[in-house]
Amino acid sequence: MYTLEAVKAFTYGCKKCKLYKTRTKVVFGQGSPYADILFIGEGPGYNEDQHGKAFIGPAGELLTKAIEGIGMKREEVYIANIVKCRPPNNRNPQEDEINRCIPYLRWQVKIINPKIIVCLGSIAAKNIIGHELKITKQRGKWYFKKGIWIMPTFHPSAVLRDDLKKRPFWKDFKEIYKKWEELKGDHDEKR
Ligand code: URA
Ligand code: SF4
Repeated sequence: MYTLEAVKAFTYGCKKCKLYKTRTKVVFGQGSPYADILFIGEGPGYNEDQHGKAFIGPAGELLTKAIEGIGMKREEVYIANIVKCRPPNNRNPQEDEINRCIPYLRWQVKIINPKIIVCLGSIAAKNIIGHELKITKQRGKWYFKKGIWIMPTFHPSAVLRDDLKKRPFWKDFKEIYKKWEELKGDHDEKR
């Protein structure tokens, strides 16, 4: 079994898809290797690409507020993305790029072994839960796959663009907290 640091080292210098050509820094993701909750976004934006850290721009600020809003700290969760390199002009990551990159995320999931995965936005939700998923209809619902509770919610960037998404977004975070409380202590024998 690899460590997170080992998988991170594989991504640095990775040229498995064309996004390597335009990236500044690989954004592996960061947080606690023992996190109960793993947040998965789409891919790095401008700020993330510059600094090599996930969710540090405006969307990251909102995500941080939401995490703190349920009494947690960013350092105790883990935050990663479907693709580790920024798609040019923030376009959606393409299927070939996702297919090349997603094995890294699968390693992260395996190693961290979270109790809960939160898919931030449609791209994450489709690739983690199922391609037929409709985020507007299915956000806030729980899925249970391979021993992990998974919830899709809106991407924080979408919430920043549309005030109507604010309330459901906060509601989803409250549900995430409830589920986490419920599961606390459930499989602590893993540590
Ligand atoms: N949007 C994402 O999906 N991921 C980031 O890391 C930042 C913005
Ligand atoms: Fe490699 Fe992923 Fe970056 Fe593509 S996006 S170059 S697969 S790390």
